[in-house]
Amino acid sequence: MGGLRASPGPGHLATLPRVRELTDLTLPTRVVARPEEAARALADEVAGLVAADPEVVLGLATGSTPVETYAQLVARTREGLDLSRVRTFNLDEYEGLAAGDPASFRSFMRRHLFGPAGVDPARTRFPVRAAEDETPEDAAARFERAIEEAGGIELQVLGIGGNGHVAFNEPGSPRDSRTRRVELAELTRRVNSVGFLDPERFPTHAMTMGVGTILEARRLRILAFGAHKAGIVARLLRSAPTEELPVTLLAGHPDVVLWIDEAAAAEL
Ligand code: GLP
Repeated sequence: MGGLRASPGPGHLATLPRVRELTDLTLPTRVVARPEEAARALADEVAGLVAADPEVVLGLATGSTPVETYAQLVARTREGLDLSRVRTFNLDEYEGLAAGDPASFRSFMRRHLFGPAGVDPARTRFPVRAAEDETPEDAAARFERAIEEAGGIELQVLGIGGNGHVAFNEPGSPRDSRTRRVELAELTRRVNSVGFLDPERFPTHAMTMGVGTILEARRLRILAFGAHKAGIVARLLRSAPTEELPVTLLAGHPDVVLWIDEAAAAEL
C-alpha cells in the first residue's frame, strides 16, 4: 500500500480518529478504523460550513452509508447546531413512488435527517416531477436550474453502488451527463429492493443528478464502508477514469476525498 502518510493522530485524545492518508491513488483517500470516525469528521466539516453560512447548499445522498453522518449531524443540533436554514439537493429519487412512500428517498431523508434535525422541508429538493403532466426532461431542467439559482452545491455527500454507480449513474453514464431519467441496472434493483415488502413493485426507473452535475459541486465527499465495499473500492482506486465505473469519473475533481474504513480498504 504505497503513498501511506500516516498522520500521527492525537493519540492522547481517544475521541479523535486516527486517519491514514493514501495519496498516490486516483482519489485522495482517508482510511479510518471505524465508519463512525469518518462520519464524525464529515459531520464536523458540514457543521463548519453551516457555521460560516447558515444557508449553505448541501448535496445529499441516501443508502445505508451516510446514515451515521446524518445521525452525527442530528446529535450536533442538540448541542446547538442550527440546520433549519440549510438548502439541500438530493442526488436521486425513484420514479413512481409518492413522497410519503416509506421506500422513497424523500421519506428516507425525512426519517434520518430533515425531521430530527429540523431542516425546513421547503428548502429541500429532489429530482422529481412536480405533477403528472410534467415531463422528466422538464423536471430535470427545473432541478438543474434550482441548483444554479442556489449558487451551486458547496459539499456533495456520495456513496458508491456495488457496480460502481454514483447516485443512479449506472455503468455507461457519460462524464458530462446531467440530471435525467434513467433505467436502473439489474444489480441495483436486486440490491435496493431488499427490505421492500413487494419486490414486484420495485421501480425500474429513477431520476438522478448526472456525473457532470455532481462534478460541479465544490467539494465531493465519497463514503464507502464495510468488507462488501472492498472490491469496488480497490477497482475504483486502480482504474483509470471510465464510464464503465462511473465513480471513477469523479477523480480529478479539485476537492474530492474518499473516506473508507479499514474493512473497505482490505483489498488495496
Ligand atoms: C443507491 C443510491 C446511491 C448509493 C448507493 C449505495 O443506489 N442511489 O446514491 O450510493 O445506493 O448504497 P449503500 O450506501 O446502501 O451501500
